Amino acid sequence: MRKIGVLTSGGDAPGMNAAVMSIAKSATMYGMPLVGIKRGYNGLLRKSTSVYDDLQELYLDTVLDIADQPGTYLRTARCTEFLDPKWREVAVQTLHNMEIDGLVIIGGDGSFQGAMRLCELGIPCVCIPGTIDNDLAYTEMTLGYETAVNVCTDAVRAVRATSRSHDRPHIVECMGRHCGDIALKTACATGSEILIVPEMRWSIEQIATRLNKQLFKGNTRTTIVLAEGCWDSMEPFDHYKFLKDHGETCYEGEPISSERLASILKHMCGMVEMRHTVVGYTQRGALPCAKDSGFAFEAGNLAVRLLRDGVSNQVIGVKQGQVFYMPIQDALRVEKHFRRDLYELVNSL
Ligand code: F6P
Repeated sequence: MRKIGVLTSGGDAPGMNAAVMSIAKSATMYGMPLVGIKRGYNGLLRKSTSVYDDLQELYLDTVLDIADQPGTYLRTARCTEFLDPKWREVAVQTLHNMEIDGLVIIGGDGSFQGAMRLCELGIPCVCIPGTIDNDLAYTEMTLGYETAVNVCTDAVRAVRATSRSHDRPHIVECMGRHCGDIALKTACATGSEILIVPEMRWSIEQIATRLNKQLFKGNTRTTIVLAEGCWDSMEPFDHYKFLKDHGETCYEGEPISSERLASILKHMCGMVEMRHTVVGYTQRGALPCAKDSGFAFEAGNLAVRLLRDGVSNQVIGVKQGQVFYMPIQDALRVEKHFRRDLYELVNSL
């Protein structure tokens, strides 16, 4: 294998740049030219007017300074066209034209699916798990997850300080799509009293009971940490009717949200005020923590070594603290187990 390419795909994640830097360093070491592919798989579809918008030769000098920067230098995107075999053929043609013999793909499960399809078309690929969500069961960590937890932990600590000052409970919403790991670890790290995640069935009435219990004990600054996907596992509740009946503004068809939940709980628990904070994209755009950067460094080097040695169709991960690799299709079959014990511990008192 001579020339290789690298792309970042899906939502950006802290540590993606560190991985690209490590890949560039390794490629230089092994004498393999490196091409950066812009905006995920889109960069292979030749839709831009200028090739330089899609592909860029990457030299160590170019990327040396990006290792500790947030975001992704290569840009990223979700690419629905890649589900279509016709567009995948275009991608393969681009790679042949550019004489790119193999790819490192940094992204989540959707990006891994794309890599599998490219492998079937004869393009060797190795993947690095880059997503804050930690929703890939085969690995103990995904790039960006630890940073996202740190960001949420800082946010909750700050929120708990102001909550204490005002004797005012607060809801903090973390990202994670359908995975509650960021919220779970944040709740554990901050001593938050109530946790709501997509993996566990819950009801608004149940949360009101728990909150009342805290208020009765005198804990007026109770924190509810919730994962953004938790609405999928909520017992049905007519929030529109409830809010209208209690004189709050709510529009018909408006989905339930942290803000609306705060209003409902305020009325259910007879509080004067209840607030909410959505941590949001600061989780994705944060400076990578040392653990994520360290993983990126090792994973980037391993990815290049695998391609150099002709090993393809693999994903890199962490098992018992060690960086390892396994076939993509096997990794995607591993079932995720939610830490129910920790969830119950957080919600137990
Ligand atoms: O997958 C990372 C993630 O930040 C999820 O936690 C979130 O649900 C999603 O991406 C948001 O995606 P977008 O930025 O494309 O709306």
